Amino acid sequence: MSSSSSSSSSSSSSFRVQIIFVLFISGYLQGANAASSTVIVRNISKTEDAVNFHIYYGQTFKVIKNVVDGKSYLLIQNNSRMATRTKYCTPRIKSFVIPLSNYSADTYSFPVSFLELLGLLGSMKGITSDSVASECALKLYETGEIEMMNRSEPQQFSEFGAHFISETDQPQACNFANFVPLVEDYPLQRAEWIKFLGVFANLETRANKVYDAIKENYLCLTKVAASKNGSFKPIVAWMQYYDSGIWSFTKETCKLKYVEDAGGENIDNSISKITYNTSNPDDSEELHAILCTVDVVIDETYTLDPAGYNQSSFLENIGVEDKSCFGFIANQSLWRYDKRVQNLTTLDWNDGAVSQPQLVLADLIEVLFPNGNYSTTYFRNIAKGEGIVSIGANMCGRDISTPLEPTILSC
Ligand SMILES: *[C@@H]1O[C@H](CO)[C@@H](O)[C@H](O)[C@H]1NC(C)=O
Ligand SMILES: *[C@@H]1O[C@H](CO)[C@@H](O)[C@H](O)[C@H]1NC(C)=O
Ligand SMILES: *[C@@H]1O[C@H](CO)[C@@H](O)[C@H](O)[C@H]1NC(C)=O
Ligand SMILES: *[C@@H]1O[C@H](CO)[C@@H](O)[C@H](O)[C@H]1NC(C)=O
Ligand SMILES: *[C@@H]1O[C@H](CO)[C@@H](O)[C@H](O)[C@H]1NC(C)=O
Ligand SMILES: *[C@@H]1O[C@H](CO)[C@@H](O)[C@H](O)[C@H]1NC(C)=O
Ligand SMILES: *[C@@H]1O[C@H](CO)[C@@H](O)[C@H](O)[C@H]1NC(C)=O
Ligand SMILES: *[C@@H]1O[C@H](CO)[C@@H](O)[C@H](O)[C@H]1NC(C)=O
Ligand SMILES: *[C@@H]1O[C@H](CO)[C@@H](O)[C@H](O)[C@H]1NC(C)=O
Ligand SMILES: *[C@@H]1O[C@H](CO)[C@@H](O)[C@H](O)[C@H]1NC(C)=O
Repeated sequence: MSSSSSSSSSSSSSFRVQIIFVLFISGYLQGANAASSTVIVRNISKTEDAVNFHIYYGQTFKVIKNVVDGKSYLLIQNNSRMATRTKYCTPRIKSFVIPLSNYSADTYSFPVSFLELLGLLGSMKGITSDSVASECALKLYETGEIEMMNRSEPQQFSEFGAHFISETDQPQACNFANFVPLVEDYPLQRAEWIKFLGVFANLETRANKVYDAIKENYLCLTKVAASKNGSFKPIVAWMQYYDSGIWSFTKETCKLKYVEDAGGENIDNSISKITYNTSNPDDSEELHAILCTVDVVIDETYTLDPAGYNQSSFLENIGVEDKSCFGFIANQSLWRYDKRVQNLTTLDWNDGAVSQPQLVLADLIEVLFPNGNYSTTYFRNIAKGEGIVSIGANMCGRDISTPLEPTILSC
């Protein structure tokens, strides 16, 4: 596994050439009218895959439009006259002065890894919870660089340039900005939200570079997976058990997409739409039958004790005596995505796995076509008794003032 980052794809660089050309022309035309004006060539980000936000550029400002809630953020450059004169805080428009010199984040459920990839962790000065899956964010907190704030007192956050939140159903003050990559359906679309955060720090160049590298690697891995054609694709079931005795298969587009991209096949839609009550003998029999046809199971069952959840837990929850037909047990392919976990509660699956989907895809390719030479990041095989990795501040081994490089897998 090597770390590097690639240069922009040819499509985005040709786009940039067009932008430079347009700015040149408009500068030329302006110059004809007012000889003093100069042409400013800015670095810009443009969404290619994500569909839930758009970015627009003016001379001294930028606008982010959030498609989901119809809110717009007006980002005003700090050295412009508008920065001192203009402030909006309406239900639909909020203004921010950029680049942010500091910010806070609602870290109950916030993927801080996006900020690490941009190199912005050092200016995160407030958090609302230590439930973060990032070693380096934990280190900053433990060394007193980050202050713990009370989420129930939104006015506390007013001292920061912005307060980023992912759970949007809370009272919001004027400097709250909704960062919601999970509204996108597909893995790459979610990762592209790095551009949303980059805009607040004038880090478009970095955001574009990281996204281009991740996308190129992801697409390359998809091609490798597609070439691994045996006679049949392995069938994968993502499934989840609820306390009420019910099993269900996932319908989440993002997870199904991962399986397709990794060269696997999802269990049929006509099967996955049903829930199975293990106390009901008919349901139980039907679930038993389906599981006899599956090659790989990913057990998503929520547990308060990930470290204690093993193959026995799964079999107990399934409640089937005879497991002789379970290929995924015979072939030892029963997985969970809680390998990296902080304080037994916070999964990196909801953080680092969102910003770097190429790592998830590489894991799944190993899950479906094991070569035994690759150590998975997010998935652990409970059929082989693989345990969790407990994330701690002591595991932060890099210089926090520099951006985290995305992990680019050999492909
Ligand atoms: C654009 O990006 C380049 C390379 O990162 C940087 O040197 C330059 O200062 C940026 N320009 C602006 C206006 O941000
Ligand atoms: C604008 O932001 C830059 C970068 O943080 C900073 O160096 C500069 O002093 C700021 N300018 C003003 C007028 O606040
Ligand atoms: C946070 O603020 C709320 C509302 O003001 C208060 O009830 C609560 O005790 C505070 N929590 C802490 C840990 O200070
Ligand atoms: C955050 O930055 C603002 C200027 O944008 C400054 O007034 C404030 O003191 C800073 N707060 C912290 C906690 O660093
Ligand atoms: C399997 O992949 C190889 C190389 O990508 C291709 O040449 C071959 O036609 C494929 N076979 C099947 C059955 O799809
Ligand atoms: C599951 O089935 C049992 C037995 O038929 C029933 O008592 C129970 O209410 C069912 N559970 C749910 C959540 O439907
Ligand atoms: C699973 O864990 C339980 C206790 O946590 C233990 O008794 C059992 O032997 C374990 N099963 C396997 C297959 O490791
Ligand atoms: C185990 O995996 C191998 C290779 O992937 C396959 O040929 C075999 O049929 C599987 N066995 C079961 C019981 O599913
Ligand atoms: C771990 O989480 C528990 C609650 O789940 C909390 O009481 C405890 O303080 C946390 N420990 C650390 C070291 O964060
Ligand atoms: C396993 O990994 C090592 C180092 O990355 C590499 O040199 C070797 O060729 C790999 N072996 C297989 C079977 O892929």
